[in-house]
Amino acid sequence: MAEVVIVRDEDAAGALVAGAIVELIRAKPDAVLGLATGSTPLATYRALARRIRDDRIDVRGVRGFALDEYVGLPAGHPESYRAVITREVVEPLGLTPELVRVPNGDPATIRTAGADYEAAMVAAGGVDLQILGIGRTGHIGFNEPGSSLASLTRVKTLTEPTRADNARFFDSPDDVPMHCITQGIGTILRARHLVLLAFGEAKADAIVAAVEGPVTASQPGSAIQLHPRTTVIVDEAAAARL
Ligand code: GLP
Repeated sequence: MAEVVIVRDEDAAGALVAGAIVELIRAKPDAVLGLATGSTPLATYRALARRIRDDRIDVRGVRGFALDEYVGLPAGHPESYRAVITREVVEPLGLTPELVRVPNGDPATIRTAGADYEAAMVAAGGVDLQILGIGRTGHIGFNEPGSSLASLTRVKTLTEPTRADNARFFDSPDDVPMHCITQGIGTILRARHLVLLAFGEAKADAIVAAVEGPVTASQPGSAIQLHPRTTVIVDEAAAARL
């Protein structure tokens, strides 16, 4: 059973998670962080940047692996997850850019990109703490409903609700890519500690399904119940149906 922590707001969640990550880095200066994109973890990244600055934490050895990437965006596109991770995480936290990996969504090398990413994660010794958001459809990473609970990093087709949700980051809804490369649910479950964040009433159904529903591929978030160490941090609105 996941540990559920109900907090006042995203900033309170950010302070909690930042504290846990700072402890981790103090104990293991080359800690491996699992990084999520989306709006959910942004307050956490801001809180973590503050803690690193205020407590003068040496993060030069910290490594990171992003969950997912769009396939086929031009290199340097501001909404590629590579660009987002650089802007929201690597730069404000002062991480070493070469130590933070994002799946490679270049169509030219996409056939081998999943296996390459898995190999890099294994070589790094696995993820110590994985930050997760959850989509309205219950997806984690870009593992949409129907994804195998044992899946590894691979190419997936985005569902229409997810493309619609992510259209706000693009000039036109048609610009949202059709495909992505994402860590699988099996990949995510290999992390040593999962921290799932969700805020707002739009996430309440996905959260109750993830925490209390049957473990099923039709609700990818429910896979967290298979993990021995999961912390779910939510506000009152996202916790409303628990
Ligand atoms: C996106 C990302 C997920 C994220 C989810 C929720 O599509 N691929 O990693 O958790 O959708 O996004 P948000 O945090 O903006 O609600």
